[in-house]
Amino acid sequence: MSKNIKKIGVLTSGGDAPGMNAAIRSVVRTCAYHGIECAGIFRGYQGMIEGDFKTMDARSVKGIINKGGTMLKSARSKEFMTPEGRKKAYDQLIKANIDALVVIGGDGSFTGAMVFNKEFDFPVMGIPGTIDNDIYGSTHTLGYDTALNTVVDAVDKIRDTASSHDRLFFIEVMGRDVGHIALNVGVGAGAEEVLIPEEDLGLDRLLESLHRSKKSGKSSSIVIVAEGDKIGKNVFELKDYVDEHMSEYEVRVSVLGHMQRGGSPSCFDRVLASRMGVKAVESLLEGKSTLMVGLMHDDMVLTPLDQAIKGQSKINLELLRVSEIMTT
Ligand code: F6P
Repeated sequence: MSKNIKKIGVLTSGGDAPGMNAAIRSVVRTCAYHGIECAGIFRGYQGMIEGDFKTMDARSVKGIINKGGTMLKSARSKEFMTPEGRKKAYDQLIKANIDALVVIGGDGSFTGAMVFNKEFDFPVMGIPGTIDNDIYGSTHTLGYDTALNTVVDAVDKIRDTASSHDRLFFIEVMGRDVGHIALNVGVGAGAEEVLIPEEDLGLDRLLESLHRSKKSGKSSSIVIVAEGDKIGKNVFELKDYVDEHMSEYEVRVSVLGHMQRGGSPSCFDRVLASRMGVKAVESLLEGKSTLMVGLMHDDMVLTPLDQAIKGQSKINLELLRVSEIMTT
């Protein structure tokens, strides 16, 4: 174990995700276990610039493992993108005797951590927390599993009303750059079609598929649309298009929005968060830095932060095929 690190700071940054609290708890308790101090940094990098820190002991994180959101709050800091902002943040860390950082967040948060490390040679470790699952180096990011369950539940409910009224629903789910949520929920909730950023289905093929589905005797249909899908039309424009070209369908739209990011984390996310927190702190204590903790084949692995950001978390092509076969 490295003798240099006596106090670790932990922050959450970017979009919140269920499991972030469980990860904070794990970081705090792993520090306590190894007899070092831990400081919670509030409001991400902005709180770091302002010195918004609070010393956290093992008991200070009781009762949060089951809570959604993040007790440390999250923010996107414009100031941290400037060298002056980062210098202020560095000075605050030195003043508070913080020797290393655990950053829980997505690719934007990791980019900030990397720049900071480069400028000040400050040890940083990343924990991937985002419902989008768009980080390379971990099969699962924190919050992804919970979001899948939340979205499947919502789609099941929408199906009840869709089938009662023989309607076609376009349901928009989160996923700015990737379609992991859309594809998995599409299969899990039995959607007729899934539109994701990785695949350009095209409007003609969408209509063809809906015609086929009507002909095969289906009276209602669910189409899951990832917010970043490539057709380039938003769900409301898709509705208008189908209204215009397929009068046989009564179409409705549902945008699930930020409810997908909330709620109590699943058992999977709680366990993953606990494992990631331990690995992040112990890696820092071993003198490692600028890495992200991830899950691969049920093992904790480390990936350089630059690879985690630049690498692609690829969509499961087999799942795409399963989705197609299931709509037969
Ligand atoms: O957390 C990731 C994400 O859910 C994206 O899918 C989405 O585009 C984005 O957050 C929206 O977040 P915000 O409203 O906080 O900018």
